[in-house]
Amino acid sequence: MIPASPLAYVPFVSVQNMMGLVHQTGIETFLTELADHIEEDFKRWPEFDKVPRVASHVPGGVIELMPTADQALYGFKYVNGHPRNTRTGHQTVTAFGVLSEVSTGYPVLLSEMTLLTALRTAATSALVGRYLAPAGAQVMAMIGNGAQCEFQAMAFRAICGINRLRLYDLDATATEKATRNLRAQGFDVTPCQSAEAAVEGAHIITTCTADKQYATILTDNMVGAGVHINAIGGDCPGKTELHRDILLRSDIFVEYPEQTRIEGEIQVLAPDHPVTELWQVMRGEVQGRRHDKQITLFDSVGFATEDFSALRYLRAKVAGTGFVQALDLLADPDDPRDLFGMLARAAPGTGA
Ligand SMILES: NC(=O)c1ccc[n+]([C@@H]2O[C@H](COP(=O)([O-])OP(=O)(O)OC[C@H]3O[C@@H](n4cnc5c(N)ncnc54)[C@H](O)[C@@H]3O)[C@@H](O)[C@H]2O)c1
Repeated sequence: MIPASPLAYVPFVSVQNMMGLVHQTGIETFLTELADHIEEDFKRWPEFDKVPRVASHVPGGVIELMPTADQALYGFKYVNGHPRNTRTGHQTVTAFGVLSEVSTGYPVLLSEMTLLTALRTAATSALVGRYLAPAGAQVMAMIGNGAQCEFQAMAFRAICGINRLRLYDLDATATEKATRNLRAQGFDVTPCQSAEAAVEGAHIITTCTADKQYATILTDNMVGAGVHINAIGGDCPGKTELHRDILLRSDIFVEYPEQTRIEGEIQVLAPDHPVTELWQVMRGEVQGRRHDKQITLFDSVGFATEDFSALRYLRAKVAGTGFVQALDLLADPDDPRDLFGMLARAAPGTGA
């Protein structure tokens, strides 16, 4: 075999290495550092090429491509959302992503992003919570106790100091799983029998359910004054979690309005319903929470810059460590225009 040239190799982070890296770093440190990178990139929002993600709606779910770029780097993520997948032993969400150099178009990182998506979604939620949650918030309700749930809890503890959780899921085995995992991490966890019971006394309500329909996880009477809602499960046309009346009582904060109006909770509102863009809050140009009776709602759908930030962070984090492998990904002939010659020379029996 002809050995591949150095340009052929792309740094690759496998699931195994991602897990090793998170443990070596410490998950709460990882989430905090990741949130710092996400915040840095929100603060330089105008520098990014932005477009609503490209969604292919398929029976039972959606497959999406999420691209963005700044002057130096281009990133994209492949991600699916199939709410019925868990019935057949598949996950609802899986992902991988790529970071490339803008100057040559060559990839500089390929990574698993199933874990990294859960981490970046949680880091983003908690970062936004730091801006919007009521002062002194201590208790968070979590409705939907599937794959994202514990990540959200870990990020809210690392970034907002939340240690008391009230959990509810339609499927009691999901709540049992999350209770077990979160108690092992030192949380004070109360499993609840209904969503109504879960939100009792909560200062922050996280909804992270998966169902491809207009669901009503929260009704208006369940949301008291001063609460911050972190709504992450409504992220697709026809897939929402909150009753419309809650939206009308809330101040709504979004990542990228052009995408959120298609996919978020606000898809049920008029196309010009006022929303606040988070990058402006993070830059101090627009106020976040104004008073302690205000209901703030983060209508999270997940935007490409968050994945870009995650890949940018990961690239720096794995450089020079054993958590990255060289993947022979790019065909790289000696003469850049003799791609065919490279293939021909590799034919069996040519001594190559
Ligand atoms: N906003 C973002 O950036 C972002 C990122 C990742 C995932 N998500 C979304 O978050 C949601 C959760 O993802 P996941 O990976 O944890 O999914 P999952 O399938 O692992 O878990 C979802 C849980 O919701 C529960 N559930 C469904 N309907 C419910 C209801 N009416 N009341 C209470 N519980 C209910 C299910 O029983 C399940 O345990 C999905 O909709 C996914 O698309 C959003």
